[in-house]
This record gives sequence, structure tokens and C-alpha cells, in this order.
Amino acid sequence: MTDGSILTTRGLWSGYGGKPVLQSVDMDVREGEIVAVIGRNGVGKSTLMKSLIGLIATAKGSIAYRGQSVDRLGANRRARLGIGYVPQGRDVFPRMTVLENLLVGQSISGRAAPKDLMDRIFGYFPILAERRGQRAGTLSGGQQQQLAIGRVLMGTPSMILLDEPSEGIQPNIVQDIARIMVELNATTGVTIVFVEQNIDMIRIMAQRCYVMDKGRITDEIAPHVLEDRAAVRRFLAV
Ligand SMILES: Nc1ncnc2c1ncn2[C@@H]1O[C@H](COP(=O)(O)OP(=O)(O)OP(=O)(O)O)[C@@H](O)[C@H]1O
Ligand SMILES: [Mg+2]
Repeated sequence: MTDGSILTTRGLWSGYGGKPVLQSVDMDVREGEIVAVIGRNGVGKSTLMKSLIGLIATAKGSIAYRGQSVDRLGANRRARLGIGYVPQGRDVFPRMTVLENLLVGQSISGRAAPKDLMDRIFGYFPILAERRGQRAGTLSGGQQQQLAIGRVLMGTPSMILLDEPSEGIQPNIVQDIARIMVELNATTGVTIVFVEQNIDMIRIMAQRCYVMDKGRITDEIAPHVLEDRAAVRRFLAV
């Protein structure tokens, strides 16, 4: 906690039914950073996110959150420590209203929320305030993504894991969401680790990028390289 790192994995292996997907992943994220994980379909990006939140067990290696080993903790315990997770495909509760989805986000985290938290979330995502009484299943993809992010924010996370937030969302909304995440990071200091294949979202949000291939981190892209669109494209096509 004192060295400024929020997340450290060392030699992390995990997978499904004894079949490894992640193969010795090492990553280091500092407090307040926004880090992207990029790579082709099926290389293990979602598996990495699920391993970090604890939906998949660590087979070998270690995961530390603020210096504390979390490998043996389930997803609920990790959420209570301040790790928030927005899954790929968003998974809002379709029959519940926007408001109910937000309240569930707070109760599953088990963390106390400041009184004005929901208003602040409505400030970031005004569409959620407008649609607070509407069932989540009737929202557009972009609105559902905003709701999924709002729901995780209700748990007052210190670090958010975001899996492909741009998927199935129209480009102008993707950019809006990316800018809001940057603003959230700047104003609250929340750390963000996100999986993404959308070049706009990566360039707006990421301060640094890990490149994954076949269950391993094969490269790291520094900020100045992120300014080069063609270079980022090459990495996405590895
Ligand atoms: N529940 C599961 N059971 C068994 N194998 C799985 C399961 N989920 C994913 N896999 C396999 O693990 C590998 C990595 O999948 P993962 O979903 O992590 O990839 P990804 O990089 O997130 O891909 P995408 O970009 O398509 O979301 C793939 O070979 C996939 O088929
Ligand atoms: Mg995925």
C-alpha cells in the first residue's frame, strides 16, 4: 500500500476445468492509473478480469491488492475490499429499474456509500437520472453500459475492472463514456483497468497498455506510442 501499487500479479495461471488459459501473467498497476489490456478475441482478456475479481480461482502464482494477497478470497470479499467489476456484456438486471440496479450495486459491495453518491452518479450519467424508473432491459446498449458502470460506482470501488465497455455501442456514445471515465479518474482518483479493442476508447482513456496474446502479456505500450493510431492498430492485430 505504501509503494503506490494497487494491483500486482506474479506468475498468474488460471483457466477452466484444469485447462490453463492465463500462463504466467505479471502485471503492476499503480494507484490512480488507467491501464488498458488489449489483444485479439480469445487470448484470455476476460479470463484475466475474472481471475482478478475472483470468479476464477488462481491455479498458480499470486494476486495482490494494495499489498494484500487476495487469491483465497471470493469475489464478494474482493468487492468489499474495493475492487469493482463490470463484466463483458454488462449484465444489468433487465427486469429491474435503473434505480433498483443502482441500489443492488451498493448492497452487493457491502461498503457504506456517501449520501450524495447516487446524485453524483446521476451527474456523470444524466440519462440514468432521466430513466431511473425504467426497466434496465429496455435501455439501449450504451445506456446499459452507463448503468453497469453506475452500479459498480455505487459500491465506492477504489479500482474498477471494466471488460470491453465499447462492445455493441455506437461510436459517439463510446467516446462519451470514455471521456466520463477519464473525468471520474481525474476527480476521484479511482484506478481503472479495462479490456478494450476499440481504438478510440483506448486512445481517450489509456495511460498505458498491456498487450495480451495466448494467455500471456507479450508487450507493453507506453503513452507516447498510444498517440500513434497505426501503431495501436498493429498491436490489436497481433
Ligand atoms: N467458461 C469457459 N469455459 C471454458 N473455456 C472458456 C470459458 N470462457 C472462456 N473460455 C476459453 O478461454 C479462452 C480465453 O477466453 P476469454 O473469454 O478470456 O478471451 P477474450 O480475450 O476475453 O476474448 P474476447 O475478445 O472474444 O472477449 C478461449 O479459448 C475461450 O474459449
Ligand atoms: Mg472477453
